[in-house]
Amino acid sequence: MEAEVFHKALQMMDVLCLILEEGVVRFANGKAQTTLGKKLLGQQIKEDLLQSQTPFVKWKSFNIGRYTVCLGTDVSHEKSEIQRLKGELEKRREFFATATHEIRSAANSILGYLALFVDEEIKLAHREELAQKAYSAALRLSALVNDLLDYVRIEEGAKELEDEPLKINSMLHEIVEDLKGYAFRKDVELQVPSVGENLTILGEKKAFCRVMRNILDNAIKFTSVKEKGEKRVTVSFSEEEQGISITVHDTGIGIEPEKLPYLFEPFISYSPGGTGLGLALSKKLIELMQGEIAIRSAGTDKGTTVELWFRRAGVEK
Ligand SMILES: Nc1ncnc2c1ncn2[C@@H]1O[C@H](COP(=O)(O)OP(=O)(O)O)[C@@H](O)[C@H]1O
Ligand SMILES: [Mg+2]
Repeated sequence: MEAEVFHKALQMMDVLCLILEEGVVRFANGKAQTTLGKKLLGQQIKEDLLQSQTPFVKWKSFNIGRYTVCLGTDVSHEKSEIQRLKGELEKRREFFATATHEIRSAANSILGYLALFVDEEIKLAHREELAQKAYSAALRLSALVNDLLDYVRIEEGAKELEDEPLKINSMLHEIVEDLKGYAFRKDVELQVPSVGENLTILGEKKAFCRVMRNILDNAIKFTSVKEKGEKRVTVSFSEEEQGISITVHDTGIGIEPEKLPYLFEPFISYSPGGTGLGLALSKKLIELMQGEIAIRSAGTDKGTTVELWFRRAGVEK
């Protein structure tokens, strides 16, 4: 067979190919020329330095008579995968550092109240208040740990949800019953109209209720802290062919535009005592139910609107 055929075949190969004779390049295919970026023929190349000069290439070499054939595979995609994994690892490290910090401060606040409680100098009447505070702090810690565990399980792909038809009306009714007292104490009017008994979405009841509670809790909390003006939270629905939109609108303190893109990240909270896990977890749960969530606000004191979308039950795909 003619040498020209080998020559052409080597040119077409997807690997880098160099043939050296006593360290001098006698042949370099196109891929080697472009990767090494210089005129190679006749150049002296130190075989042991080749690897360090080309970090994104994995070289193998073997001798045939007085020639050394060096074949290099482009591994830059592996490097970018390593880079991606490193970023992922760093994100996780940060997540666990913040999570541990949050748990420690919650535990410390319980310990603080209990230390005062057992202090003999503290009056009996005051003790009751301290026990109440320790109890509330313990509830917060337990909610935090539950949210964290769920968030991590979803991130790891270990959490699966039921996919069942859920009647919105009765579920919302239950949630509103729970939150009515809270809204009243916070001087916020809560308006949730009834929807058709048979309006049904697909998802898991526990997850749906958790999401709605988080969103309504935020709406009430961030409306109650407003200094003046009306304080109202309104829920509305709109039926579409494939799904159902639920809109939670409040007349509260609103959100600055620069904060909007980060609200679904874990631990992003702009409220004292907030964990910043509510929206992050809600988004994950909604995505597991193949729904959507978006939050918008025209700015400080302009109120906030959260838009949720769920698949409708009984709709053929
Ligand atoms: N209805 C709302 N009105 C104003 N700000 C909101 C509203 N909902 C969410 N936010 C903003 O999003 C942040 C993240 O919310 P969330 O994840 O529930 O955390 P948290 O409630 O613990 O602060 C809040 O700290 C707040 O700044
Ligand atoms: Mg919240």
